[in-house]
Order: sequence, then structure tokens, then C-alpha cells
Amino acid sequence: MHLIETRDLTYTYPGNVTALHSLNFVAPRNARIAVIGSNGAGKSTLFKCFNGIFKPSSGSVLIRGEPITKENIREVRKFVGIVFQNADDQIFSPTVEQDVAFGPTNLGLDEKTIHHRVHEALKLVGIEDLAHRVPHHLSGGEKKRVAIAGIIAMEPEVLVLDEPTAGLDPKGVHDLVEFINSLSKTYGMTVIFSTHDVSMVAEVADYVYVMNKGRFVAEGSVEEIFLQPDMLRSVRLDVPVLPKLIRSLNTHGVPVPMAYTYEDVERALITTYNGVPQDSNIP
Ligand SMILES: Nc1ncnc2c1ncn2[C@@H]1O[C@H](COP(=O)(O)OP(=O)(O)OP(=O)(O)O)[C@@H](O)[C@H]1O
Ligand SMILES: [Mg+2]
Repeated sequence: MHLIETRDLTYTYPGNVTALHSLNFVAPRNARIAVIGSNGAGKSTLFKCFNGIFKPSSGSVLIRGEPITKENIREVRKFVGIVFQNADDQIFSPTVEQDVAFGPTNLGLDEKTIHHRVHEALKLVGIEDLAHRVPHHLSGGEKKRVAIAGIIAMEPEVLVLDEPTAGLDPKGVHDLVEFINSLSKTYGMTVIFSTHDVSMVAEVADYVYVMNKGRFVAEGSVEEIFLQPDMLRSVRLDVPVLPKLIRSLNTHGVPVPMAYTYEDVERALITTYNGVPQDSNIP
């Protein structure tokens, strides 16, 4: 059974704007799924259907095989944690610590457990030193981490991140990639994230949905998706820079095997030109 599944999900906003057209999406256990699409593609709207913020205009959303109802919505929100695109929508307490404690407190946990979860979450996202700060006085990237910590502290089984890298500095993006991969590896968490930054997709995702104007125009593994540069360009996206470079080298007669992540490209180049992979000094 899939953790999240949509069947012919259609969503129309008041005013007759249909943002999602008959979408079929599945999130199996322990998957890392990217939903990529340009501005207005429908990514945020789709995510808001995953925990009942929006109800389908037609079709359905199934969580562990069950539709979302008034009776199970609390359980669903415990199970599916969503970090919104705009951190300001999610942060409202006087201190970071209190903000991160809000979710666990609402779950009715005891104080000791709440304290433990809050500090673990702050540590995981690397902002323990901000615990006593006023969230609204933090930078955009810091607020984003607070919002992520607040959801992590609820220990959802599915973590949904809407544009998690927007506004993060390069180290922040690198940390987030490591963080998502560790959640998946260490805790078996299922992670679904949206982005138009295609370069992080290969580092994190094992399955990709490409969205345009409320429809999925392609889905598949990282390799399957990034072998379709024309399709990506037609929906205002692009192939990440590494496979793009390799393709261009190949067309100029330089034989390097296709690779998608930094480490794989480095290995491919070393193997091709040195014969044997070895530890490099490239930082
Ligand atoms: N409250 C609303 N009322 C009417 N239409 C809306 C509303 N919110 C979003 N839309 C429309 O729904 C479509 C999908 O918007 P959505 O925010 O889901 O896109 P997105 O893929 O998340 O874009 P972005 O990359 O800019 O975050 C857009 O055409 C948008 O204009
Ligand atoms: Mg969005």
C-alpha cells in the first residue's frame, strides 16, 4: 500500500482556476520524490492536498489507502508533515524553541518528550544556537530551518518540503541535501519535495514527477527524466549542468559515460582518463 496516492485528482480554486488536472501520484515507503515544475505549475496546490488543506474538486487523495475525512484528519496531519514554501506562514511563536515545540505540544506529548524532540530537531537542522531568538527577526534561510525543525519535531512518516532550497545559501543547500538523505537512510522517512532547481534533484531524488500547467508531463527515475532535455525545456526547466556538460563533451567526441551527481561525474572522469579511480584533491 502506498503512503500517499492521488487518483485523478483535480482541484479548482474559487474563481474557476483549475490548478490540478486529473493527477495520479504515488509515494511508496522510504521514497525520495521530487516534483519539478516552473512557476504556477501546481506544486504547492498539490502538496496542500496531501494533508487535507485542500479537498479534491474531483478524484481522491488516499493516505495509507484511506481517503482523508473529518475523523482521521488529525492522524493524517501527524503522518504527513508539510513545510510550506513561505516560512512566514508557519512561524508565529515568540521564540524559536517555542515555535518548534508548538506541533509536539499539540500532539499532547509530555514535557520531557517535547523538550527532547525540540532539541533534536534544532540540532538536525543546525540551528541550536538560535533557540532563544525571535523567529520574525531571523533571516529567510534561518526561518526556513525553523519551519523544517517544527515539522521534524512532530516526527511525521512523510515529510513534504515545498521549495526547501529557495533562499538558502550554498552551504544551506548542501546541508539540506545531506539532511534529506539522512532522514531517508537513518529514519526510513519518505520525503517529497518540490523545486525548480534541477541541480539538486539528482543528489536527492530517486523518482521525479515533472509538472506543467497542473498536469504531470513526465515521470520516472532521475536518468529517465534528464535524458529528455527537449521535454524539460518545453516546460521552462533544464537539464542539470553536469549531465548537460557530459552530453556536450560526448557530441564533441570526448567519451565520458553519463553521470548525474558530482561524485559520479568525478569518478567517471577519473576512470576515463586515469584508468583507475583514486582519491582526488578536488575540494
Ligand atoms: N488562491 C488562489 N486562487 C486562485 N488561483 C490560485 C490560487 N493559488 C494559486 N492559484 C493558481 O494555481 C496555479 C498553481 O499555483 P501553485 O502555487 O500551486 O504553483 P507552484 O507550482 O507552486 O508555483 P511556484 O513555483 O511559483 O511556487 C497557478 O496558476 C496559480 O495562479
Ligand atoms: Mg509553489
